[in-house]
Amino acid sequence: MPSSEPRPSQGMTVGRQGDGPALEVRNLVKHFPLTKGIVFKRTVGQIQAVDDVSFELYPGETLGLVGESGSGKSTVARTLLRLHEPTSGEAIFQGQDLFKLSASDMRAARRDIQMIFQDPYSSLNPRMTVGDIVAEPWRIHTGILPRNEQRGRVSELLELVGLNPDHINRFPHQFSGGQRQRIGVARALAVNPSVIIADEPVSALDVSVQAQVVNLLEDIQEEFGIAFLFIAHDLSVVRHIADRVAVMYLGRMIEVGTEEQIYERPVHPYTQALLSAAPIADPKRRAESERILLEGDLPSPADPPSGCRFRTRCWLFNQMRDEDEATGGNRTEKCITDDPRLEDGGFDHPSACHYPQERHIIASAEVDRVAAVRPDDSKMVVRDDREIEDAVKKEEDAQIEAAEAKHVEALESRKAKTIDET
Ligand SMILES: Nc1ncnc2c1ncn2[C@@H]1O[C@H](COP(=O)(O)OP(=O)(O)OP(=O)(O)O)[C@@H](O)[C@H]1O
Ligand code: SF4
Ligand SMILES: [Mg+2]
Repeated sequence: MPSSEPRPSQGMTVGRQGDGPALEVRNLVKHFPLTKGIVFKRTVGQIQAVDDVSFELYPGETLGLVGESGSGKSTVARTLLRLHEPTSGEAIFQGQDLFKLSASDMRAARRDIQMIFQDPYSSLNPRMTVGDIVAEPWRIHTGILPRNEQRGRVSELLELVGLNPDHINRFPHQFSGGQRQRIGVARALAVNPSVIIADEPVSALDVSVQAQVVNLLEDIQEEFGIAFLFIAHDLSVVRHIADRVAVMYLGRMIEVGTEEQIYERPVHPYTQALLSAAPIADPKRRAESERILLEGDLPSPADPPSGCRFRTRCWLFNQMRDEDEATGGNRTEKCITDDPRLEDGGFDHPSACHYPQERHIIASAEVDRVAAVRPDDSKMVVRDDREIEDAVKKEEDAQIEAAEAKHVEALESRKAKTIDET
């Protein structure tokens, strides 16, 4: 299909049999206007942060959402909670389209869909005690728990997440990064959500603490049957907790499958490259493992490549091009002109590649549960809606400023190239 034609749903999904989905996302699109100019801003393009993404999240499952920085993972999460308004698409939750809810109905829905996320700008409210932080959702969503029962319940929640209830009057700075994350989890659980969206909940933590927090989330999920959308850069972090994994690239979902399908039998060249990049602690295994180099940076979502968005970095594309040059073939033409849909290309799970092929990268036991470590482990927060909106706004402003210059540059260099060529 030529890439200029409207795309039908990418929404082929695999999920748990039996239960209906807790959340069903159909053809989600979120484009941000790309503006130029300091005083007189004018729109010079669109940042296609999320482009036609569909998936289902089943009760009690964890769906890992993985992709490089800038692939659109947080935009999916934030748009679902209407922290960004979607460009188009549907998100069906409890029989209603979240995107059509009034502001007050959306506030009520946010009680059932909690978000745990990493905010690079600030930490848990430093002036509130842990007890107040965990109890705050009951003040936002009134009528859940009588005031006189709240303190007892906070203690129970702290115990549940592995914190000492005697520390109820302490302030956030008195806790380590991992403990603060536990406070965030307790806070999210206070309103008995049916869905938790966790945006990089462990990537700010030390490697040693990451596994503990992932284990905690897993235990909680098992106990309460909550559906988790667990976002991470790193396939190895998600493997431990995910039932299914969805891989994103440049605003698109490019492969979705069960944990086993993605890790043992990936078919998309990008998933294979990501898996091959997973760190392996054991030097012997590392030496034996196959490494696929993922060259270059993610292209600008303001100017994605024609045809397959991954083609500019695709090792299979390069391999086929070299082979075709020798044999006179032309297989890569399709990659350049046709936008591959997410569909089952003869394997047992969908991928968005014209030439999907199974490739075993490393055996399951060989994937270590190690993730990228970031220097500051103190910035994991869970907030109420107003705080989320403020934090997101601040983050967005900084992000937009930094990203826009890059996207404008990409767009202009493409235009200059086109002029040169004509
Ligand atoms: N508010 C915004 N305005 C303009 N562009 C935005 C905005 N938010 C995100 N973007 C752009 O959308 C694209 C996807 O960003 P997003 O934050 O969703 O990626 P991500 O996969 O979460 O990355 P990371 O792993 O770094 O968190 C990026 O190019 C980003 O610059
Ligand atoms: S469609 Fe072509 S360029 Fe895209 S991932 Fe498949 S082989 Fe690579
Ligand atoms: Mg993100």
